[in-house]
Amino acid sequence: MILPIVAYGSPILRKLAVDIDPDYPGLKQLIADMQETMYSTNGVGLAAPQINKDIRLFVMDSAQIFENQEEDEKGTYPDEPGIKGVFINPHITALDGQKWNYNEGCLSIPKIREDVMRHQTVTIEFEDEHFNFHEKTFNGLTARIILHEYDHLDGKLFIDYISPLKRTLLKRKLDDISKGKIKADYRMLFNK
Ligand code: NI
Repeated sequence: MILPIVAYGSPILRKLAVDIDPDYPGLKQLIADMQETMYSTNGVGLAAPQINKDIRLFVMDSAQIFENQEEDEKGTYPDEPGIKGVFINPHITALDGQKWNYNEGCLSIPKIREDVMRHQTVTIEFEDEHFNFHEKTFNGLTARIILHEYDHLDGKLFIDYISPLKRTLLKRKLDDISKGKIKADYRMLFNK
């Protein structure tokens, strides 16, 4: 089932999400619904707060980026061919490498994209959809997406990283999103 996306301005996007255990009700279906929602909205990642659940869970797929990559862009990123992942109760244990800029967007903040500096490499502990524990290191675009989605679980958004001046310039657009004055290509939940 495709779920509506919580829009910027809703308090759940600013909450600290909580860990879950394997008997969280309907978890298998929830993960399937989040993946279906992510693909239907052309997203590369989706965090539970964005579908109105304040739990530490996100899904992501960096492999689809590389599948759709232009021939001349191949080899640009160190993490090709990417991964398709489910991250439950993730906790970052290390950030490494040079920070780099990339133009990010977010399903909760439609039609706004801004450059964001993030670390090249992230080491993260998490459980997968079978509740098997992992500690893994990711880099490139995969790390970028993981860091963006992880931020959602801590109530952070990519626009928090941009300069105060750019933030001021975006204020009107952001206010419009929070008031529901936006036409997204997918169903959204507004906190009007
Ligand atoms: Ni996002």
